[in-house]
Amino acid sequence: MKKVFLIAYFIAALGGGVSQAMAGSHDERSVGAAVYARSCIACHAIDGVGAMPGIPDLTDKKGALSKSDGVLLKGIINGINSGSSPIPMPAKGGDENLTEAEARLVLDYIRRKFGN
Ligand code: HEC
Repeated sequence: MKKVFLIAYFIAALGGGVSQAMAGSHDERSVGAAVYARSCIACHAIDGVGAMPGIPDLTDKKGALSKSDGVLLKGIINGINSGSSPIPMPAKGGDENLTEAEARLVLDYIRRKFGN
């Protein structure tokens, strides 16, 4: 039952990420925030602690965000399957239109927002 729920959530998150266009602001911070709201929040939650089991807590000071920008950017763009989570993270958070520039802005955003 739990597994079915996770898969349904996964598919919903993928669909949501792909369908939304960005709300054209030129302010870089708000672009990062908009990308997070559009493509990441379904799994990582508004406060970054994760919306379901298996999602890493981005507010953990010794956790994922202690890695370098290069490593994290690569993970965001190519997806992550560390084996320590029951589900992988989809490439670009499932948003096929996510650009590298947006990936950088959303990484800046989560670092600022979640205090790392
Ligand atoms: C479908 C759910 C889902 C979505 C959407 C999603 N993530 Fe993730 N994310 C995960 C999971 C699951 C992991 C852990 C994967 C693993 O360890 O195998 C993860 C891991 C991460 C990590 C830690 C990487 C590391 O090397 O430890 C970062 C940073 C991250 N996600 C950022 C993002 C950003 C930014 C977005 C939006 C562009 C996003 N995620 C969208 C599920 C998601």
